Amino acid sequence: MSPHSVYPALSSHCFPRDFIWGVATAAPQIEGAAFLDGKSASTWDAFCRVPGKVLNGDTLDVACDHYHRYEEDFDLLVKLGIRHYRLSIAWPRICPDGDHRVNQAGLAFYHRVFDALASRGITPWVTLYHWDLPQCLEEQGGWRNRAVVKAFASYADIVVRAFAGKVKNWITLNEISCFTRMAYGTGRKAPGLCEPEQVVNQTYHHALLCHGEGVRAVREHGGLAAKVGLTDNPSIPVPVSTSEQDISAAAEAFGEDNIRVLDPIHHGHYTERYRRLTGKNGAACEKDDFSLISLPTDFLGLNIYWGYFVRASCNGTVERMDFPASYPRTSSPWHALVPQALHWGPRFVHGLYAPKEILITEHGAGYDDDVIVDGEIKDLHRRDCLRTYLREMLDTIDAGVPVKGYFLWSLLDNFEWQDGYLRRFGIVHNDFNTQRRTPKLSAEWYAAVIAANRLQ
Ligand code: FCB
Repeated sequence: MSPHSVYPALSSHCFPRDFIWGVATAAPQIEGAAFLDGKSASTWDAFCRVPGKVLNGDTLDVACDHYHRYEEDFDLLVKLGIRHYRLSIAWPRICPDGDHRVNQAGLAFYHRVFDALASRGITPWVTLYHWDLPQCLEEQGGWRNRAVVKAFASYADIVVRAFAGKVKNWITLNEISCFTRMAYGTGRKAPGLCEPEQVVNQTYHHALLCHGEGVRAVREHGGLAAKVGLTDNPSIPVPVSTSEQDISAAAEAFGEDNIRVLDPIHHGHYTERYRRLTGKNGAACEKDDFSLISLPTDFLGLNIYWGYFVRASCNGTVERMDFPASYPRTSSPWHALVPQALHWGPRFVHGLYAPKEILITEHGAGYDDDVIVDGEIKDLHRRDCLRTYLREMLDTIDAGVPVKGYFLWSLLDNFEWQDGYLRRFGIVHNDFNTQRRTPKLSAEWYAAVIAANRLQ
Protein backbone atom coordinates (compact mmCIF):
# COMPACT_ATOMS: atom_id res chain seq x y z
CA MET A 1 0.00 0.00 0.00
CA SER A 2 1.39 3.39 -0.91
CA PRO A 3 1.94 5.75 2.00
CA HIS A 4 -0.44 8.17 0.31
CA SER A 5 -3.44 5.91 0.67
CA VAL A 6 -2.64 5.46 4.35
CA TYR A 7 -2.17 9.19 4.90
CA PRO A 8 -4.37 10.91 2.34
CA ALA A 9 -3.69 14.60 1.69
CA LEU A 10 -5.90 16.95 3.66
CA SER A 11 -7.75 18.77 0.92
CA SER A 12 -9.03 21.46 3.26
CA HIS A 13 -5.44 22.64 3.59
CA CYS A 14 -5.55 24.08 0.06
CA PHE A 15 -5.35 27.82 -0.64
CA PRO A 16 -7.31 29.52 -3.44
CA ARG A 17 -5.75 29.04 -6.87
CA ASP A 18 -4.50 32.60 -7.42
CA PHE A 19 -3.39 33.18 -3.84
CA ILE A 20 -0.50 35.68 -3.59
CA TRP A 21 2.47 34.31 -1.67
CA GLY A 22 5.27 36.70 -0.90
CA VAL A 23 7.86 37.96 1.53
CA ALA A 24 8.22 41.48 2.91
CA THR A 25 11.20 43.70 3.67
CA ALA A 26 11.76 47.42 4.26
CA ALA A 27 14.52 49.70 2.96
CA PRO A 28 15.95 50.91 6.28
CA GLN A 29 16.11 47.39 7.65
CA ILE A 30 18.06 45.77 4.81
CA GLU A 31 19.64 48.24 2.41
CA GLY A 32 22.58 49.68 4.33
CA ALA A 33 24.45 52.27 2.18
CA ALA A 34 22.98 54.71 4.65
CA PHE A 35 25.06 57.65 3.43
CA LEU A 36 25.98 56.51 -0.06
CA ASP A 37 25.12 57.97 -3.48
CA GLY A 38 23.44 61.05 -2.10
CA LYS A 39 21.16 59.50 0.52
CA SER A 40 20.67 61.74 3.56
CA ALA A 41 20.10 60.66 7.16
CA SER A 42 16.72 59.34 8.18
CA THR A 43 15.25 59.72 11.66
CA TRP A 44 16.45 56.18 12.35
CA ASP A 45 20.02 57.02 11.25
CA ALA A 46 19.93 59.81 13.84
CA PHE A 47 18.10 57.83 16.54
CA CYS A 48 20.47 54.87 16.44
CA ARG A 49 23.31 57.27 17.28
CA VAL A 50 21.64 58.39 20.52
CA PRO A 51 23.21 56.24 23.25
CA GLY A 52 20.81 53.70 24.73
CA LYS A 53 18.11 53.96 22.08
CA VAL A 54 19.02 50.94 19.95
CA LEU A 55 20.33 47.72 21.44
CA ASN A 56 24.14 47.45 21.40
CA GLY A 57 24.33 50.79 19.59
CA ASP A 58 23.60 48.97 16.32
CA THR A 59 23.24 51.23 13.28
CA LEU A 60 21.59 50.91 9.87
CA ASP A 61 24.82 51.87 8.10
CA VAL A 62 25.43 48.46 6.51
CA ALA A 63 22.43 46.34 7.58
CA CYS A 64 22.20 43.41 5.11
CA ASP A 65 24.12 45.38 2.47
CA HIS A 66 21.17 44.67 0.19
CA TYR A 67 22.06 47.87 -1.68
CA HIS A 68 24.97 45.95 -3.19
CA ARG A 69 23.60 42.41 -2.94
CA TYR A 70 20.06 42.69 -4.27
CA GLU A 71 20.81 40.42 -7.24
CA GLU A 72 21.92 37.64 -4.91
CA ASP A 73 18.88 38.22 -2.69
CA PHE A 74 16.49 38.04 -5.63
CA ASP A 75 18.16 34.80 -6.76
CA LEU A 76 17.16 33.46 -3.37
CA LEU A 77 13.54 34.44 -4.06
CA VAL A 78 13.68 32.48 -7.29
CA LYS A 79 15.21 29.49 -5.54
CA LEU A 80 12.38 29.50 -2.99
CA GLY A 81 9.68 29.97 -5.64
CA ILE A 82 8.60 33.33 -4.19
CA ARG A 83 6.94 35.41 -6.92
CA HIS A 84 5.80 38.47 -4.92
CA TYR A 85 8.14 40.77 -3.07
CA ARG A 86 7.13 43.64 -0.77
CA LEU A 87 9.83 46.28 -0.38
CA SER A 88 9.91 49.93 0.60
CA ILE A 89 11.53 52.96 -0.96
CA ALA A 90 13.78 55.10 1.21
CA TRP A 91 12.41 58.65 1.16
CA PRO A 92 15.83 60.19 2.08
CA ARG A 93 17.42 58.34 -0.86
CA ILE A 94 15.01 59.98 -3.32
CA CYS A 95 14.54 63.40 -1.67
CA PRO A 96 17.55 63.92 0.60
CA ASP A 97 16.49 67.51 1.34
CA GLY A 98 12.91 66.58 2.11
CA ASP A 99 11.61 68.77 -0.71
CA HIS A 100 11.06 68.60 -4.48
CA ARG A 101 14.76 68.15 -5.33
CA VAL A 102 15.45 64.65 -6.62
CA ASN A 103 18.54 62.54 -6.09
CA GLN A 104 18.89 60.82 -9.46
CA ALA A 105 21.23 58.17 -8.02
CA GLY A 106 18.43 57.16 -5.66
CA LEU A 107 15.97 56.71 -8.50
CA ALA A 108 18.61 54.81 -10.48
CA PHE A 109 19.06 52.32 -7.61
CA TYR A 110 15.37 51.42 -7.54
CA HIS A 111 15.26 51.22 -11.34
CA ARG A 112 17.99 48.58 -11.06
CA VAL A 113 16.02 46.81 -8.32
CA PHE A 114 12.77 46.71 -10.32
CA ASP A 115 14.61 45.56 -13.46
CA ALA A 116 16.30 42.79 -11.48
CA LEU A 117 12.91 41.67 -10.12
CA ALA A 118 11.25 41.83 -13.56
CA SER A 119 13.99 39.74 -15.15
CA ARG A 120 13.22 37.05 -12.58
CA GLY A 121 9.45 37.21 -13.00
CA ILE A 122 8.91 38.64 -9.50
CA THR A 123 6.14 41.20 -8.85
CA PRO A 124 7.06 44.16 -6.64
CA TRP A 125 4.70 45.53 -3.96
CA VAL A 126 6.07 48.91 -3.02
CA THR A 127 5.59 50.73 0.28
CA LEU A 128 6.16 54.46 -0.07
CA TYR A 129 6.91 54.99 3.61
CA HIS A 130 8.28 52.47 6.08
CA TRP A 131 9.37 54.77 8.92
CA ASP A 132 12.47 56.44 7.43
CA LEU A 133 11.55 60.11 7.50
CA PRO A 134 14.34 62.38 6.22
CA GLN A 135 15.98 63.76 9.38
CA CYS A 136 15.87 67.28 7.90
CA LEU A 137 12.06 67.07 8.02
CA GLU A 138 12.16 65.88 11.62
CA GLU A 139 14.14 69.00 12.42
CA GLN A 140 11.12 70.98 11.20
CA GLY A 141 8.76 69.08 13.51
CA GLY A 142 8.46 65.82 11.56
CA TRP A 143 5.03 64.22 11.82
CA ARG A 144 3.91 66.96 14.24
CA ASN A 145 4.15 69.60 11.53
CA ARG A 146 1.42 69.68 8.91
CA ALA A 147 4.11 70.65 6.38
CA VAL A 148 5.04 66.94 6.26
CA VAL A 149 1.94 66.40 4.11
CA LYS A 150 3.16 68.66 1.32
CA ALA A 151 6.63 67.11 1.46
CA PHE A 152 5.19 63.60 1.28
CA ALA A 153 2.84 64.50 -1.57
CA SER A 154 5.78 65.78 -3.60
CA TYR A 155 7.85 62.65 -2.81
CA ALA A 156 4.94 60.36 -3.70
CA ASP A 157 4.44 62.18 -7.02
CA ILE A 158 8.13 61.79 -7.86
CA VAL A 159 8.23 58.09 -7.01
CA VAL A 160 4.98 57.03 -8.65
CA ARG A 161 5.80 58.99 -11.83
CA ALA A 162 9.27 57.47 -12.01
CA PHE A 163 8.22 53.84 -11.50
CA ALA A 164 4.69 53.68 -12.92
CA GLY A 165 5.94 51.55 -15.80
CA LYS A 166 7.51 49.00 -13.45
CA VAL A 167 5.28 48.96 -10.36
CA LYS A 168 1.56 48.25 -10.25
CA ASN A 169 1.01 47.58 -6.54
CA TRP A 170 1.50 50.42 -4.07
CA ILE A 171 1.21 50.64 -0.31
CA THR A 172 1.07 54.20 1.00
CA LEU A 173 2.28 53.91 4.60
CA ASN A 174 3.32 51.13 6.93
CA GLU A 175 1.77 50.90 10.41
CA ILE A 176 0.77 54.47 11.22
CA SER A 177 0.63 53.87 14.98
CA CYS A 178 4.30 52.84 15.05
CA PHE A 179 5.66 56.07 13.58
CA THR A 180 3.15 58.27 15.44
CA ARG A 181 2.24 56.94 18.89
CA MET A 182 5.39 54.87 19.39
CA ALA A 183 7.62 57.61 18.00
CA TYR A 184 6.06 60.72 19.59
CA GLY A 185 4.03 59.23 22.44
CA THR A 186 5.91 56.36 24.06
CA GLY A 187 9.33 57.25 22.70
CA ARG A 188 10.29 53.70 21.71
CA LYS A 189 10.82 54.47 18.04
CA ALA A 190 12.60 57.31 16.24
CA PRO A 191 12.65 60.18 17.04
CA GLY A 192 11.92 58.88 20.56
CA LEU A 193 9.75 61.66 21.98
CA CYS A 194 7.05 61.69 24.65
CA GLU A 195 4.64 64.40 23.59
CA PRO A 196 1.19 65.11 25.04
CA GLU A 197 -1.80 63.16 23.72
CA GLN A 198 -3.11 66.00 21.53
CA VAL A 199 0.21 66.15 19.67
CA VAL A 200 0.13 62.37 19.18
CA ASN A 201 -3.37 62.56 17.74
CA GLN A 202 -2.17 65.31 15.44
CA THR A 203 0.67 63.11 14.13
CA TYR A 204 -1.93 60.43 13.32
CA HIS A 205 -3.97 63.01 11.45
CA HIS A 206 -1.00 64.13 9.36
CA ALA A 207 -0.25 60.50 8.56
CA LEU A 208 -3.85 59.97 7.39
CA LEU A 209 -3.46 62.98 5.08
CA CYS A 210 -0.23 61.53 3.69
CA HIS A 211 -2.00 58.25 3.06
CA GLY A 212 -4.57 60.24 1.06
CA GLU A 213 -1.82 61.98 -0.89
CA GLY A 214 -0.30 58.57 -1.67
CA VAL A 215 -3.61 57.30 -3.03
CA ARG A 216 -4.01 60.48 -5.08
CA ALA A 217 -0.49 60.19 -6.51
CA VAL A 218 -1.11 56.60 -7.60
CA ARG A 219 -4.45 57.50 -9.21
CA GLU A 220 -2.88 60.47 -11.01
CA HIS A 221 0.38 58.95 -12.18
CA GLY A 222 0.24 55.20 -11.61
CA GLY A 223 -1.61 54.15 -14.75
CA LEU A 224 -4.90 52.33 -15.09
CA ALA A 225 -3.76 48.98 -13.77
CA ALA A 226 -2.25 50.43 -10.59
CA LYS A 227 -3.62 49.37 -7.22
CA VAL A 228 -3.10 51.12 -3.91
CA GLY A 229 -3.90 50.59 -0.24
CA LEU A 230 -2.70 51.28 3.29
CA THR A 231 -0.93 48.82 5.56
CA ASP A 232 -2.25 48.98 9.10
CA ASN A 233 -1.48 46.98 12.21
CA PRO A 234 -4.78 47.08 14.03
CA SER A 235 -4.90 45.94 17.58
CA ILE A 236 -6.82 42.64 17.50
CA PRO A 237 -9.05 41.47 20.34
CA VAL A 238 -9.73 37.75 20.10
CA PRO A 239 -12.88 36.34 21.72
CA VAL A 240 -11.85 33.77 24.30
CA SER A 241 -14.78 31.57 23.27
CA THR A 242 -17.02 31.51 20.25
CA SER A 243 -20.09 32.41 22.29
CA GLU A 244 -22.13 35.24 20.82
CA GLN A 245 -21.40 37.37 23.88
CA ASP A 246 -17.62 36.98 23.67
CA ILE A 247 -17.61 37.64 19.93
CA SER A 248 -19.65 40.83 20.44
CA ALA A 249 -17.29 41.87 23.24
CA ALA A 250 -14.31 41.39 20.93
CA ALA A 251 -16.03 43.27 18.09
CA GLU A 252 -16.77 46.13 20.48
CA ALA A 253 -13.12 46.26 21.62
CA PHE A 254 -11.93 46.12 17.99
CA GLY A 255 -14.06 49.15 17.13
CA GLU A 256 -12.76 51.05 20.13
CA ASP A 257 -9.10 50.23 19.44
CA ASN A 258 -9.14 51.37 15.84
CA ILE A 259 -10.75 54.81 16.03
CA ARG A 260 -7.67 56.66 14.82
CA VAL A 261 -6.87 54.96 11.52
CA LEU A 262 -9.35 52.47 10.10
CA ASP A 263 -12.47 54.43 11.09
CA PRO A 264 -11.56 57.77 9.48
CA ILE A 265 -10.16 56.15 6.34
CA HIS A 266 -13.29 54.09 5.75
CA HIS A 267 -15.97 56.37 7.21
CA GLY A 268 -14.59 59.68 5.98
CA HIS A 269 -14.72 61.40 9.38
CA TYR A 270 -13.72 60.90 12.99
CA THR A 271 -16.57 59.06 14.65
CA GLU A 272 -18.57 60.01 17.67
CA ARG A 273 -16.57 57.41 19.57
CA TYR A 274 -13.30 59.15 18.56
CA ARG A 275 -14.64 62.47 19.86
CA ARG A 276 -15.76 60.82 23.09
CA LEU A 277 -12.50 58.96 23.70
CA THR A 278 -10.10 61.72 22.71
CA GLY A 279 -12.10 64.62 24.20
CA LYS A 280 -10.21 67.88 23.98
CA ASN A 281 -7.13 66.04 22.76
CA GLY A 282 -8.60 65.17 19.37
CA ALA A 283 -6.73 66.20 16.22
CA ALA A 284 -7.34 69.61 14.68
CA CYS A 285 -8.67 69.17 11.14
CA GLU A 286 -9.17 71.42 8.14
CA LYS A 287 -12.23 71.59 5.93
CA ASP A 288 -11.40 69.22 3.08
CA ASP A 289 -9.17 66.82 4.99
CA PHE A 290 -11.52 63.88 4.90
CA SER A 291 -12.19 63.87 1.19
CA LEU A 292 -8.47 63.19 0.81
CA ILE A 293 -8.19 60.79 3.76
CA SER A 294 -11.07 58.61 2.57
CA LEU A 295 -10.20 58.36 -1.14
CA PRO A 296 -11.23 54.85 -2.21
CA THR A 297 -8.50 52.21 -2.17
CA ASP A 298 -8.16 48.80 -3.81
CA PHE A 299 -7.12 46.75 -0.80
CA LEU A 300 -6.27 47.00 2.85
CA GLY A 301 -2.97 45.58 4.05
CA LEU A 302 -2.88 44.10 7.53
CA ASN A 303 0.26 43.31 9.50
CA ILE A 304 -0.74 40.68 12.02
CA TYR A 305 1.63 39.30 14.62
CA TRP A 306 -0.40 39.16 17.79
CA GLY A 307 -3.71 39.89 19.48
CA TYR A 308 -5.11 39.74 22.96
CA PHE A 309 -8.03 37.90 24.50
CA VAL A 310 -11.31 39.43 25.59
CA ARG A 311 -14.56 38.17 26.98
CA ALA A 312 -17.93 39.53 27.99
CA SER A 313 -17.96 40.03 31.73
CA CYS A 314 -21.13 39.37 33.75
CA ASN A 315 -21.90 43.09 34.15
CA GLY A 316 -22.07 43.49 30.36
CA THR A 317 -18.70 45.20 29.93
CA VAL A 318 -15.73 43.98 27.90
CA GLU A 319 -12.98 42.30 29.87
CA ARG A 320 -9.52 42.68 28.31
CA MET A 321 -7.50 39.76 29.63
CA ASP A 322 -3.83 39.87 30.62
CA PHE A 323 -1.42 37.19 29.46
CA PRO A 324 -0.23 34.90 32.25
CA ALA A 325 3.56 34.68 32.60
CA SER A 326 3.66 31.20 31.04
CA TYR A 327 1.78 32.22 27.90
CA PRO A 328 3.84 31.26 24.78
CA ARG A 329 5.78 34.05 23.09
CA THR A 330 8.56 34.57 20.58
CA SER A 331 11.76 36.30 21.73
CA SER A 332 10.03 39.68 21.30
CA PRO A 333 8.43 40.58 24.63
CA TRP A 334 5.46 42.15 22.78
CA HIS A 335 4.85 39.08 20.71
CA ALA A 336 2.44 36.71 22.45
CA LEU A 337 1.52 33.95 20.05
CA VAL A 338 -2.16 34.38 19.23
CA PRO A 339 -2.74 32.59 15.92
CA GLN A 340 -6.49 33.36 16.03
CA ALA A 341 -5.57 37.00 15.43
CA LEU A 342 -5.12 35.99 11.80
CA HIS A 343 -8.71 34.84 11.84
CA TRP A 344 -10.51 37.50 13.87
CA GLY A 345 -8.50 40.48 12.59
CA PRO A 346 -9.49 40.06 8.93
CA ARG A 347 -12.98 39.01 10.00
CA PHE A 348 -13.67 42.15 12.03
CA VAL A 349 -12.12 44.33 9.33
CA HIS A 350 -14.31 42.68 6.71
CA GLY A 351 -17.44 43.03 8.85
CA LEU A 352 -16.84 46.67 9.78
CA TYR A 353 -15.27 48.18 6.66
CA ALA A 354 -15.62 45.63 3.84
CA PRO A 355 -12.46 46.59 1.92
CA LYS A 356 -12.48 45.08 -1.59
CA GLU A 357 -9.50 42.89 -0.78
CA ILE A 358 -7.41 42.15 2.28
CA LEU A 359 -3.73 41.32 2.08
CA ILE A 360 -1.70 40.10 5.00
CA THR A 361 1.25 42.38 4.29
CA GLU A 362 3.30 41.06 7.22
CA HIS A 363 3.37 38.18 9.61
CA GLY A 364 6.38 36.41 11.05
CA ALA A 365 8.29 35.49 14.19
CA GLY A 366 11.50 36.85 15.70
CA TYR A 367 13.89 34.73 17.73
CA ASP A 368 17.31 35.39 19.18
CA ASP A 369 18.75 31.91 18.88
CA ASP A 370 18.68 30.98 15.20
CA VAL A 371 22.13 29.43 15.11
CA ILE A 372 23.86 27.52 12.35
CA VAL A 373 24.68 23.96 13.35
CA ASP A 374 26.46 21.83 10.74
CA GLY A 375 25.40 24.29 8.06
CA GLU A 376 21.73 24.18 9.02
CA ILE A 377 19.32 26.37 10.98
CA LYS A 378 16.57 24.11 12.25
CA ASP A 379 14.06 26.77 13.22
CA LEU A 380 11.20 24.43 14.01
CA HIS A 381 9.84 27.09 16.37
CA ARG A 382 9.36 29.55 13.49
CA ARG A 383 7.97 26.90 11.17
CA ASP A 384 5.44 25.86 13.76
CA CYS A 385 4.41 29.44 14.47
CA LEU A 386 3.91 30.20 10.76
CA ARG A 387 2.00 26.99 10.21
CA THR A 388 -0.40 27.55 13.10
CA TYR A 389 -1.17 31.08 11.96
CA LEU A 390 -1.64 29.98 8.34
CA ARG A 391 -4.20 27.38 9.42
CA GLU A 392 -6.21 30.17 11.01
CA MET A 393 -5.89 32.22 7.83
CA LEU A 394 -7.30 29.29 5.86
CA ASP A 395 -10.36 29.26 8.11
CA THR A 396 -10.77 32.97 7.49
CA ILE A 397 -10.71 32.45 3.73
CA ASP A 398 -13.13 29.54 4.07
CA ALA A 399 -15.46 31.83 6.03
CA GLY A 400 -15.68 34.04 2.93
CA VAL A 401 -13.32 36.85 4.00
CA PRO A 402 -11.46 38.10 0.88
CA VAL A 403 -7.88 37.52 2.06
CA LYS A 404 -6.02 37.45 -1.25
CA GLY A 405 -2.39 37.20 -0.22
CA TYR A 406 0.19 36.73 2.50
CA PHE A 407 3.67 38.29 2.80
CA LEU A 408 5.95 36.65 5.32
CA TRP A 409 8.13 38.97 7.38
CA SER A 410 10.89 38.61 6.46
CA LEU A 411 13.13 37.31 3.72
CA LEU A 412 16.29 38.01 5.72
CA ASP A 413 17.35 38.57 9.29
CA ASN A 414 17.67 42.36 9.42
CA PHE A 415 17.77 45.54 11.50
CA GLU A 416 14.87 45.08 13.90
CA TRP A 417 14.52 48.73 14.94
CA GLN A 418 15.21 49.29 18.66
CA ASP A 419 16.24 45.62 19.01
CA GLY A 420 19.07 46.07 16.51
CA TYR A 421 20.42 42.89 14.96
CA LEU A 422 19.67 40.66 17.92
CA ARG A 423 16.16 39.67 16.93
CA ARG A 424 16.06 37.52 13.80
CA PHE A 425 12.85 37.48 11.76
CA GLY A 426 14.28 36.05 8.53
CA ILE A 427 13.53 32.74 6.90
CA VAL A 428 17.02 33.24 5.53
CA HIS A 429 19.78 33.60 8.10
CA ASN A 430 22.20 36.48 7.66
CA ASP A 431 25.68 36.47 9.14
CA PHE A 432 26.17 40.18 9.74
CA ASN A 433 29.99 39.81 9.75
CA THR A 434 30.28 38.11 6.39
CA GLN A 435 26.85 38.94 4.88
CA ARG A 436 26.52 35.27 4.10
CA ARG A 437 22.90 34.19 3.54
CA THR A 438 21.76 30.71 4.60
CA PRO A 439 18.13 29.62 4.14
CA LYS A 440 16.66 28.22 7.34
CA LEU A 441 14.46 25.16 7.58
CA SER A 442 11.43 27.50 7.63
CA ALA A 443 12.44 28.83 4.18
CA GLU A 444 12.37 25.33 2.74
CA TRP A 445 9.04 24.69 4.42
CA TYR A 446 7.58 27.97 3.07
CA ALA A 447 8.85 27.12 -0.42
CA ALA A 448 7.02 23.79 -0.20
CA VAL A 449 3.79 25.49 0.92
CA ILE A 450 4.00 27.88 -2.03
CA ALA A 451 4.84 25.15 -4.53
CA ALA A 452 1.90 22.98 -3.42
CA ASN A 453 -0.39 25.92 -2.56
CA ARG A 454 -1.36 24.03 0.56
CA LEU A 455 -0.17 23.69 4.12
CA GLN A 456 2.60 21.17 4.60
C1 FCB B 1 6.51 45.38 12.06
C2 FCB B 1 7.29 46.28 11.11
C3 FCB B 1 8.43 45.58 10.41
C4 FCB B 1 9.15 44.58 11.31
C5 FCB B 1 8.17 43.70 12.04
C6 FCB B 1 8.82 42.68 12.93
O1 FCB B 1 5.86 46.17 13.01
O2 FCB B 1 6.44 46.80 10.13
O3 FCB B 1 9.28 46.55 9.89
O4 FCB B 1 10.04 45.20 12.14
O5 FCB B 1 7.28 44.48 12.79
